[in-house]
Amino acid sequence: MIVCVCRAVSDRAIRCARDAGAASIEAVGAATGAGTCCGSCHEAIGRILAEPLVELPRVARRSGPAESVPLRTAAGKRETP
Ligand code: FES
Repeated sequence: MIVCVCRAVSDRAIRCARDAGAASIEAVGAATGAGTCCGSCHEAIGRILAEPLVELPRVARRSGPAESVPLRTAAGKRETP
């Protein structure tokens, strides 16, 4: 969804800037251009910056064929790669 109409910047681009370290409306503006024209999107940018960061679950690395995870075939049977 476009948050900044003037600069055609999406919420996704703003979240990417935030995740890369842009912690203020000014920093988001420097990174994306959002909010650097009329300023009517500042409130929406601020709401995105205030969203809690989501931490993705860590996935354990598996190595070697002895630990590989069986895959399901289309028929539902398990097979080890
Ligand atoms: S809508 Fe973002 S600066 Fe105008």
